[in-house]
Amino acid sequence: MKNIRKVVIPVAGWGTRSLPATKNIPKEMLPIYNKPVIQYVVEEAQRAKIEDVIFVTNRDKSVIEDHFDYNLQLESVLERAGKLDKLSEVRAVAEMVNIMSVRQKKQLGLGHAVLCARELVRDTPFAVMVGDDLMFGGVPAIGQLIEVAMAEKMPVIGVMEVPFEKISRYGIIDGEEISPGIFRVRSMVEKPKRENAPSRLAIVGRYVLTPDIFGYLDKVTPGHGGEIQLTDAMQAMAQNRGIMAVRMSGMRFDAGDWAEFLTANIYFALQDEELRYELLALLKNFVQFQ
Ligand code: G1P
Repeated sequence: MKNIRKVVIPVAGWGTRSLPATKNIPKEMLPIYNKPVIQYVVEEAQRAKIEDVIFVTNRDKSVIEDHFDYNLQLESVLERAGKLDKLSEVRAVAEMVNIMSVRQKKQLGLGHAVLCARELVRDTPFAVMVGDDLMFGGVPAIGQLIEVAMAEKMPVIGVMEVPFEKISRYGIIDGEEISPGIFRVRSMVEKPKRENAPSRLAIVGRYVLTPDIFGYLDKVTPGHGGEIQLTDAMQAMAQNRGIMAVRMSGMRFDAGDWAEFLTANIYFALQDEELRYELLALLKNFVQFQ
């Protein structure tokens, strides 16, 4: 299998779970501590040696591409003010990866979003990262999948065990564990009722796919929620050429869930030595008054 150098990041969703904050700001641009959500996702890709990022966008999302571009006016203001640390920080964001984008003119589902990127992906294996799933730990999450995909020469998806009551929010797999944490997928189903789910192993928004996925996506009909589901195309693929799954290690935050979004903010703020003690003191004080 060729090296994975491209990632498709679908960012055309409405962000209804985060309204009204996302009425005029893409959900991917909401900050987690001092960086927008999407920057954490792109940093994960960069750490896994991915060079080309393909955003699948809509008309209201160009600010995401701008974030990963130079802002010459801001840079000259920072330079003149002698704020060289900030200057190198904002320049570094523009230099992280190559950015490409394609419009998803109708929001017909995650599978449809991936299909929109077909002409930019062409005929190489590629990664897909869901823009509001934040994963943290030692080895970048997408890197864990790339490693297995390269070794097994197979498409690979990331999974994590979720609590029984959250099963119906996810794609769920049924797999045979062939070595610790590595599964051969027998089948998968998008957002099943929890009592019908084959397991508690949920797909967590990280995938390494081969270009034949586009053929399967061409054929799937609208599934859960009337949308073209990536899970349905992968289910067909699993029955033919096979798919592996890897139980991801590390932490995961769903940035579209307020409790997890706020926890991620506190988690990252606490990593900053300068902020840590002040924040802890304020929180302690606040909790006393609850
Ligand atoms: C998508 C996928 C689902 C996966 C989830 C992970 O769902 O369709 O299989 O479990 O991402 O976040 P969405 O959250 O876009 O409804």
